[in-house]
Amino acid sequence: MSTNRLDLQGRRTLITGAGSGIGRALALELASRGGVLALAGRRLEPLAETAALVAERVGAAHTITADLTADGEPERVVSDAVSALGGLDILINNAGNVRAAALEDIDIADIRAMIDLNLLAPILATRAALPHLRAAGAEHGHAALVGISSAAGLVGTPFYAPYAATKAGLVRFDEAVRRELHGSGIHVATVYPGPVDTPMMATSQAGADLGYGLRPVNEVAVEIVAGLEERQIDINTQLPERRAMQELNARDPLAVDAALAPKLDELRAAVSSHRSI
Ligand SMILES: NC(=O)c1ccc[n+]([C@@H]2O[C@H](COP(=O)([O-])OP(=O)(O)OC[C@H]3O[C@@H](n4cnc5c(N)ncnc54)[C@H](OP(=O)(O)O)[C@@H]3O)[C@@H](O)[C@H]2O)c1
Repeated sequence: MSTNRLDLQGRRTLITGAGSGIGRALALELASRGGVLALAGRRLEPLAETAALVAERVGAAHTITADLTADGEPERVVSDAVSALGGLDILINNAGNVRAAALEDIDIADIRAMIDLNLLAPILATRAALPHLRAAGAEHGHAALVGISSAAGLVGTPFYAPYAATKAGLVRFDEAVRRELHGSGIHVATVYPGPVDTPMMATSQAGADLGYGLRPVNEVAVEIVAGLEERQIDINTQLPERRAMQELNARDPLAVDAALAPKLDELRAAVSSHRSI
């Protein structure tokens, strides 16, 4: 089963944070493969726009409005998706937020918001989704759990400490769950995007000179879905320069400290306005 391509045709898929950015682009990419989608987020309007774009591609989409940081909402979203779709084959934990700055300048409320959305919500949604994913995995072997982590989940990025903590937490969560699910027919994939041109990045002033050149979101979504079809467990959409930093970090983390040091002040100034909460 594990060497087969993951067949996405007709899969019942819940995508969190599907009203914009990577979530919307994934919805369109999956719709073009015949996916049947449930789209979750706080605001109905952007979700409805995604649903209309999905409909143009011959897929069907159901919208679910919810604040995933509220008590009981990750579970309710999963249950609504299961009712609307008649089961669940794929869960994509995509909704996320960010606040960058020197740690002592980040409000405690923002730190909690990142932990609640980027880490706790995926854990709770996955917990609620597992019985349904297990049923799908047992039935056809093409179920999947996808976590949208970040390059910051692999390399501790200065001025993104709480964000990096949540994204690294998601990496280990996915890995542990993958091992629990061995032989279940549920493929588990973690995605590591570098900077992508989405609304999340609108308030960052950091550009390519600081390593924050933005990739077009559609390109990234195509790579994510291709990686999923190939049953990759780590789907890394970073450009080569950033991957080199990631490899250096694994081999010689102090060399990364030294490489980043000369531009620390510039980076701090450029990202201290970066907030999507
Ligand atoms: N863009 C990048 O450079 C980049 C890089 C690495 C990783 N990522 C990750 O990719 C994922 C998607 O981000 P994006 O770049 O596509 O950003 P985005 O356009 O801001 O999308 C985030 C989505 O999450 C939803 N959301 C936010 N707070 C929520 C809440 N409390 N409950 C439910 N939904 C909520 C938002 O819709 P509402 O406001 O309507 O709720 C929005 O549609 C995130 O996990 C992010 O960390 C992004």
